[in-house]
Amino acid sequence: MPQPVDVDDLRERLLDAGYVADDGLATALACAVSLERAVLLEGDAGVGKTDAARALAAVHDAQLLRLQCYEGLDLASAAYDWNYGKQLLAIRAAEAAHERTPDLYADDFLIRRPLLAALGAPRERGIVLLIDEIDRADDEFEAFLLEFLSDFAISIPERGTIAARHRPIVVLTSNRTRDLHDALKRRCFYHWIAHPTISREIAILRMRVPEAPPALAADVARAAAALRERDLRKPPGIAESLDWTQTLQLLGADRLDHASFQRSLGAVLKYPEDIETARAAAEAIVAAVRADGVA
Ligand SMILES: Nc1ncnc2c1ncn2[C@@H]1O[C@H](COP(=O)(O)OP(=O)(O)O)[C@@H](O)[C@H]1O
Ligand SMILES: [Mg+2]
Repeated sequence: MPQPVDVDDLRERLLDAGYVADDGLATALACAVSLERAVLLEGDAGVGKTDAARALAAVHDAQLLRLQCYEGLDLASAAYDWNYGKQLLAIRAAEAAHERTPDLYADDFLIRRPLLAALGAPRERGIVLLIDEIDRADDEFEAFLLEFLSDFAISIPERGTIAARHRPIVVLTSNRTRDLHDALKRRCFYHWIAHPTISREIAILRMRVPEAPPALAADVARAAAALRERDLRKPPGIAESLDWTQTLQLLGADRLDHASFQRSLGAVLKYPEDIETARAAAEAIVAAVRADGVA
């Protein structure tokens, strides 16, 4: 029997690393690490997917290797490449010195991109491999990743197969702009990160913007939650709540009121139609936020 995981302990340690995780996320991370499974974090933009990987690396005192995915991402950018310029120079130098051409596929000429680099973790320090926004990459890359996550090895035609010395901790994130393949999901522990509850968002704001008055942080968390209930093109993420809190402070507000709400909307909403929607609902949102605040 494997050791039971201590979810509360991980939660505490994530908190020390500056990340407020709820029980569901801490459970997913603890189990994935313990099972040596990749963890797939899905959720809207700004809910804390990328930062969860950063915090997990801090907790494990591991190096964070980040692969940002995009359309057209290929193995040369994700896994490895050969340093053609350096190979050419080596050939020229050998020719000039009338020496034999060196081995052009030696380590010296190998460029280790995040996936390959993640296989070379020394024993002392682990690696957290963050494959960020996998939904942006295309099918071909997802198929490659499938192989990578099964074997933790990369085969390089000129070199043979390079296998992991120690399995890295792998965190995949997706904004769910498209569905991922079931085969990929099967290899992962899955967790959906929802927008934070009001109390969790207050905790995040208090930690990240400690100089803000507590009442202001609470107002912002409630107002952000109220905005997320509206039909917006881009509901605010936590990054926007953080910006909003700081902006309100700059404007000298120590509570959210009608005037400061109207003036600061550019910190939190980024589409004119969303700002219109918020302006129209300002009265109701501010009243609700302040009414809650009294309790
Ligand atoms: N649970 C959390 N605890 C502390 N900070 C958080 C948390 N979630 C998000 N943040 C902060 O909110 C911002 C957006 O988070 P990020 O991880 O970039 O979101 P995503 O990757 O889901 O788009 C970052 O500044 C991050 O530090
Ligand atoms: Mg992100």
